[in-house]
Amino acid sequence: MSIRSDFPLIVNPPYEPFCYADNAASTQQPRAVIEAMQDYALHMHANIHRSPYRLAENASHIYENARKTLAMRFNVPHQGVVFTSGATSALNMLAFSLSQELKPGDGVLLSLLDHHSMIVPWQEAAKRHQLKIFWAPYDRETGCIDLNAVKDIVQRHPEIKIMSIIAASNALGTRQPVEELIYLARSANIKTIVDGCQIGLEPTDLQRMKVDFWVVTAHKMFGPTGIGAVMTPHEGIWDTLPVYQTGGGAISMVHQNNTLFAHGPARFEAGTPPIQAAYGWATAIEYLNRHSFYRENRYLRQLTDYAVEMFKNISGYRVLFLDSNDRLPVFSFVHDRIHPHDLATYLDHLYGIASRAGHHCTMPLMESLELPGTLRLSFTWYNTKDEINKCVKALEQATGFFNV
Ligand code: ALA
Repeated sequence: MSIRSDFPLIVNPPYEPFCYADNAASTQQPRAVIEAMQDYALHMHANIHRSPYRLAENASHIYENARKTLAMRFNVPHQGVVFTSGATSALNMLAFSLSQELKPGDGVLLSLLDHHSMIVPWQEAAKRHQLKIFWAPYDRETGCIDLNAVKDIVQRHPEIKIMSIIAASNALGTRQPVEELIYLARSANIKTIVDGCQIGLEPTDLQRMKVDFWVVTAHKMFGPTGIGAVMTPHEGIWDTLPVYQTGGGAISMVHQNNTLFAHGPARFEAGTPPIQAAYGWATAIEYLNRHSFYRENRYLRQLTDYAVEMFKNISGYRVLFLDSNDRLPVFSFVHDRIHPHDLATYLDHLYGIASRAGHHCTMPLMESLELPGTLRLSFTWYNTKDEINKCVKALEQATGFFNV
C-alpha cells in the first residue's frame, strides 16, 4: 500500500499543481509525527533532568526513550547518542572537540564531495591549530571518492589523523564507498567522521561498520527541524573528548574556580535540549521501522531506476553522473543556456515542482566541475513514477519557454 496518504502536506498540497522534489533538503512529515509533536505540547511539555515532579520526570523519560529509539535503529549503545540542534551543529562540535587533541602539522582528510557544514568547521579548526587539510579526489566517471587515490594519500601522509567524509553526495546523489574508507582509515589509525544525512532513511549498522562518529539529522528522515545527532559505537568516547559548548546540563560540579564536566552524552548537551523534536524524531523512526518494503530501500531503488531511464532520454540537459552504479534518487541537471535558478522558478510557477537550485552547499565540488550550480530534483518514499514523468515533461518544455 502506498504511504503517500500518510503525509498531509503531500495529499493536501499548499497549492495546485504541486510536486515535492526537494527531499534531499528536507523531507515532509507523516501525520504520526505531526500529531505526536502536538500531543507533546498539549499534554507532556516540561523541562528535563532537573525536577522531581511527575510531568518533568515523564518528559525526561520521553527524551531518553528517543535516544534509545535512535540508538537501536543505528545499532549503537544508548549512551552512544548525543543529540544536537542539527547536523551542522554536530559537525561543528566534532571539529571543535577533536581538533583540540591534534598538534600543529597534523592532517585532516576531507572529500571534494563534502557539504560546507563538514568543510568549514575543519577549515576554521585548521586555522586555530595549524592543521593541514588534504582532499580526497573523486572519480570523474562515477562521482565517487577514488579509493586508490585515498589509499595513496594516507600512505604518503602519516600525519593524517581524521578522515571526514559524506556517505552520499547531497549534490550529485552518488553513494560513497564508506565501508572501504572506514576500513582504510582504521588500518592507518585515523579517526572517521561520516556525514550520513542523505541516507538517514536507510537501515545502517554502525557497530558493524566500526565508524568513530556518524552524523544524522531528523528533517531528512521524516522528522522535524531543530534536532540532529552524533552517534558512536564506542560509548565511553564522550568522556575522553574536550567539551564544546558549556553550561547547565553538561556539568557534574561547578565551583567558583573550576568546573567538572558530566559523563556520557550529557557532556555535549549543554542547555535545554530539543525535547519536543526528540519525541517527534522518535515517532518518525518508529514510522520508518514499520514499513519494511520502503525501509529496505526496495521502493527507492525502483524509483531511482525508473528516473534514470527517463532522464537518460531528456534532450538538452546533462544529468550529472546519471550512470553511477549506486545512486540515490537525487539528480543534478545542467542546461548550457538556462540558469538553474531560472529553471527552478519556471518549474515552480508553471508546474508546482519544488526543486533546489544553486551550489547545494558544495562549492568546492562545483568548482571542480566548473559549474556555478545545478538544478536538483530529489525524490523519496512518497514520490511516484507519475511525478517523475511530470518533471521530464516540464524540463522538456522549458527549452521552448526560454526559447533556447
Ligand atoms: N543539505 C541540504 C541540501 O542538500 C539543505 O539541500
